[in-house]
Amino acid sequence: MDSSKTKHIILLPFLAQGHLRPFLHLANFLRSHTPFTLSILTTPLNAANLRRQSNNINIYDLPFNSTDHNLPPNTENTEKLPLTSIISLFYASTSLQPHVRNHLTRHHLDNPPICIIFDIFLGWADNLARSIGSTGVCFNTGGAYGLAAYMSIWMHLPHRNVPDNVEFSLPEFPENRKFKRNQLHRFLRFADGTDDWSGFFQPQIKYSRNCSAWLCNSIEEIEPLGFEVLRAMLKVPVWGIGPLVKTENSCDEDDEQGCVEWLNQFERGSVLYISFGSQNTVTPIQMMELAKGLEESGAKFLWVIRPPFGFDINGEFKPEWLPEGFEKRVMERKQGKLVKKWGPQMEILRNKATGAFLSHCGWNSLIEALSEGVPIIGWPLAAEQAYNSKMLVEEMGVAVELTRGLEGELSSEGVKKVVEMVMDREEGSFGCEMKKAAVVIGQKLRDAMKVEGDYRGCSLRSLDEFVEFIVSRKATLS
Ligand SMILES: *[C@@H]1O[C@H](CO)[C@@H](O)[C@H](O)[C@H]1NC(C)=O
Ligand SMILES: *[C@@H]1O[C@H](CO)[C@@H](O)[C@H](O)[C@H]1NC(C)=O
Repeated sequence: MDSSKTKHIILLPFLAQGHLRPFLHLANFLRSHTPFTLSILTTPLNAANLRRQSNNINIYDLPFNSTDHNLPPNTENTEKLPLTSIISLFYASTSLQPHVRNHLTRHHLDNPPICIIFDIFLGWADNLARSIGSTGVCFNTGGAYGLAAYMSIWMHLPHRNVPDNVEFSLPEFPENRKFKRNQLHRFLRFADGTDDWSGFFQPQIKYSRNCSAWLCNSIEEIEPLGFEVLRAMLKVPVWGIGPLVKTENSCDEDDEQGCVEWLNQFERGSVLYISFGSQNTVTPIQMMELAKGLEESGAKFLWVIRPPFGFDINGEFKPEWLPEGFEKRVMERKQGKLVKKWGPQMEILRNKATGAFLSHCGWNSLIEALSEGVPIIGWPLAAEQAYNSKMLVEEMGVAVELTRGLEGELSSEGVKKVVEMVMDREEGSFGCEMKKAAVVIGQKLRDAMKVEGDYRGCSLRSLDEFVEFIVSRKATLS
């Protein structure tokens, strides 16, 4: 094993915050538990950003100038992009391929990396890995169930001939797990195989599906069906090595708006945390109904809020988007706190006062919440989020779905009803059952990373198997 000390693993994340962060967590995880040297390759601004968060991982710049790709200047990830330009960034990401090849030729000509771990959206990296005598491994930053559904729908576009309200099944899933058109993000709903979105996603997913092994930021113990379906679909090893989340001792984010102090004044499990992530928001009408319903419910809430759909998501928040006097009233009554743009999510989820999470069901948010045993009110908005929400409701029993997407109907009464139901902790209530299920899932997730005496959690055992796999492949390749 001694020679493996000089062995490299290259990581290639997609250009989005929600992918870069889990790739960095993965790099740190591999660095702590394997003998390999880790390098992340990404575009200059994303690289600079990652360097600020880590000084243990090699981070290399890949040349990229957004203005060459019909993108605004200095735009290297989805964060600051309007929805209509995101497709340009997807296409632009394929321009990284020759630069990755150059990097590999320059640094690894005599000693190919033991594997290249790439994002599903950078599927081209698999053939590149093979061409230099390395192994392509895909890291799924999402859950197994969500990924399986997402890949299946992109590959088959089964909804094309199905009317709006008719359910359809997917060939890889059990027949009784039905899907609906309105669970599909708009881009996918209108995809027909010839549009720009299909033109990017179908080939990249096809290339990714050809890779030698998969890692998922999840564990089989919490989503056995997802892993079963995914393994049958991919026919190569799939290892769950989650939860890759920010660890306790890296809690150094600023809490400028005093979220933790505000939460500390409340009883255990009494506050609803609301956030749709940094990339998503809801319509002005939905925002208004949500605010009214929250106020009427009387439930305590901490709401990380951004401007509604149709306005600059990173712009100033205007009070007119909420019922008149809303913020002042809920503040004075100590019922609610509005946090503008961003809050320290992991600290909020770890706070004992946090009782439930109204979430867009992005996987990073879900895995963070579930690790802390926090049940979910789902409001999926994009990507594979609706399949995540479906899985949490149907398979795990830790969530209830409030509405779906920007077209989803929402009334203040509906909000009030769901919030009251979920925050209710009376023995035997629905809220109490959800909470119990979330606590069990949370325990499984924490155990997955535990090392105690001879005991190694399932994610560490999966990692051992993965290392054995790439080392033995290396032996046959060279
Ligand atoms: C990107 O390209 C534009 C137009 O060619 C140029 O003005 C700009 O300086 C370049 N930016 C970087 C960071 O190289
Ligand atoms: C899949 O991998 C094989 C080698 O194992 C390669 O020959 C083939 O071209 C790859 N297919 C795609 C779609 O990249």
